Amino acid sequence: MKLHFLTGNKNKVIEAEKRLGPLGFDIIQENLQPPEIQADTLEEVALFSAKWAEPYAKKPFFLEDSGFFVDSLNGFPGVYSAYVFRTLGYMGILRLLEGVEKRCARFVAIIAYHDGEVIRMFRGEVLGTVTREPRGGNGFGYDPIFIPEGSSRTFAEMDTEEKGRFSHRGKALENMERWLKIGYEETERKGLGF
Ligand code: IMP
Repeated sequence: MKLHFLTGNKNKVIEAEKRLGPLGFDIIQENLQPPEIQADTLEEVALFSAKWAEPYAKKPFFLEDSGFFVDSLNGFPGVYSAYVFRTLGYMGILRLLEGVEKRCARFVAIIAYHDGEVIRMFRGEVLGTVTREPRGGNGFGYDPIFIPEGSSRTFAEMDTEEKGRFSHRGKALENMERWLKIGYEETERKGLGF
């Protein structure tokens, strides 16, 4: 079954392929970029993007919106993660946390999936801590400064497969996959096929 993934980020596509490819889903990257809106939650951003893309995108499609939330900064950069990454980078976050002992943070991912009729949302979250220095050369964004719970390595020190086992995106994809599987089995049972 073909799934169109609306993103300009190849790293996200690789993570999705690793998880959904072996289950028979063919991930097709579409470089359709919805405008970045200002909103209070990732859910609002993802829903806006899915509605915006509706007339243009091949179905079924999904897109994902994610953010990096640092507890000591009251959740900043959160929904502004992309903008803050472009302007301050992860070094800016490390500077804001200079001298701060409490270094808990989380990544959250929201997937909006459009099957041609309705939009469904799936969530994934990973808790962890912010390092004092950047570590590792893999991945993207804030990967070099985030260690997920249950590991001693940053996301940037992991390969895609290992990161996918911990990551917010991996969890949101897993939730979507579970739902798709139910839909798939139901469709097969009714003899409709995809
Ligand atoms: P977006 O969902 O692509 O807009 O992501 C928002 C920002 O969060 C991006 O600029 C990334 O820097 C950051 N981000 C999202 N997911 C990850 C991740 O898995 N690792 C590191 N940074 C991420």
